[in-house]
Amino acid sequence: MTVPDELVEFVEGRVKLLIYNPERYRRSDGVYEPSWSPVFYNPVMVINRDFSILIAASLGFKDATVLDALSGTGVRALRYCLEVPDVVKCYANDVDSQAYELIVRNISHNNLESKVIALNEDANIVMYSLKKSGVKLDLIDIDPYGSPAPFLRAASWSVRNGGYIGATATDIASLSGNKPWAGTRRYWCYLTPTDVPKILALRVLMGYVARIAAEIDRYVEPATYLLGNHFIRVLYRVKKGATAADAMLSKSLGFMKYCRYCGYREFTYETYERVCKICGNKLEYIGPLWIDKLVNKELVGRARNILPSYSYMTSASRLSKILEQQSVEADAEALVPYNVVQLSSRLRTSSPKISKVIECLRAADYSAVRYYGEEAVIGTNAPYDSLVTCLKQGS
Ligand SMILES: C[S@@+](CC[C@H](N)C(=O)[O-])C[C@H]1O[C@@H](n2cnc3c(N)ncnc32)[C@H](O)[C@@H]1O
Ligand SMILES: [Zn+2]
Repeated sequence: MTVPDELVEFVEGRVKLLIYNPERYRRSDGVYEPSWSPVFYNPVMVINRDFSILIAASLGFKDATVLDALSGTGVRALRYCLEVPDVVKCYANDVDSQAYELIVRNISHNNLESKVIALNEDANIVMYSLKKSGVKLDLIDIDPYGSPAPFLRAASWSVRNGGYIGATATDIASLSGNKPWAGTRRYWCYLTPTDVPKILALRVLMGYVARIAAEIDRYVEPATYLLGNHFIRVLYRVKKGATAADAMLSKSLGFMKYCRYCGYREFTYETYERVCKICGNKLEYIGPLWIDKLVNKELVGRARNILPSYSYMTSASRLSKILEQQSVEADAEALVPYNVVQLSSRLRTSSPKISKVIECLRAADYSAVRYYGEEAVIGTNAPYDSLVTCLKQGS
C-alpha cells in the first residue's frame, strides 16, 4: 500500500498507525500540538490507551464487540481488536471526514478489514443506530475533547446489559470546581475549588454517570479509573434494574462536606450542618457525587495477573504501580481524599513524608492509600483528628 507524503507510520502497542506527520504541527517552542493536526493523535495519551486495552483484556469478555465512538485515527479500535483476544469486532467512528478516511487507511494498513468497521457519523447517532439495529455492544469507549457528558446518555442506553463504558474527561477544571459554573452546567453538581481536584473530579463524573443511568432504570458499578496529567478516565459497568438503581442512588450518591479553613471533610448524605465541627467556620457541600467505592477488586486482580503478557506496552511499569495501589484501595470502603501537603501547611507543621503518614494511619487500624497521578493526596477512612495526629508525627 502506498502512503501519502504527509502520513508517517508510528507504532503504538501492536498497531502500525498512520498519522499526519507530527513534524509539521510543532509550536515555536518545538512541542507537537496534536490539535493542529488534521486528525487528532496525541502520543502522550498512550497510557490512557494502554490502560484501556489491559483492562478490556481483564473484563472476561467472550466474542465481544467494542465501539470506539470518537476514534480520531482509529487507534483504540485497532488496538482493542489486535490486542484483546476476546474482542471479535470493533466499530471505529469519527464525525470528521478526514479522520474517517484515515481510519479506513489504518484498518487496511493493519489487515484488520475482517474485524474493524469504520463509520463517519455523530457518535450519538451511531450509538442509537447500533442499538436500534440490535448490535450488542460489550464496551463503549468515549474519548472526546473536553467533556464526555454529551455522549453518556446515549452510551448508557446503547451498551448491552452488563456491558462497560470507558469515558475520558479532560475538563478537569470544570469537574473539580475550578470553573464551578461550567461544572454545574455539565454535571448538575454544586462545586467549589478544593485541594483534591482530581479525586473529586472522578467522584463528580461517577456521580453524574450514575444519575444518567438511573434515569433509564439502569445502575452502574465502578470498575476502575485512571488519573492522568490532564485527564481522568472512569470505567464502569451498566446493568438494567429499577430497584437496584434506587438502591444505588440511596447508598452510593451523596455529598462531601468541606471546610476550607481547617481542611476538615467527610462524605455525607445530609446537608443540614452549616458550621465546621472542628473550627466553627462555614461548611460547604460538594455534590451530588459518588461516595462509594471506585474500584472492583477482582478486575484489578485479573489485570495484575495478565500484565506480564502486556510487558511490551510503553506504560507497563506505570500500570503495574497504579494497579498495585488500586488493589489496596479495593480492599477498603470509600476513602475520603486529603491533600496532606495543604493540610500540614494549614496546621503550620512541616510537610510530612507521605509514606510515614500512611504507615501511622495503618498502624492505628485505618485504611490509607496513595493515588498515582495525585501525589500529595491520600485517601483514608480515619477521622480528621487521627489524621492530624499522624501528620504531626510524620512531619
Ligand atoms: C480526542 S480526539 C480522539 C482521540 C482518540 N480516541 C485517540 O485515542 O487517539 C476526539 C475525536 O472526536 C471527534 N469528534 C468530535 N465530536 C464528535 C462527535 N459528535 N461524534 C463523533 N466524533 C466526534 C473528533 O473529530 C476527534 O477526532
Ligand atoms: Zn473547619
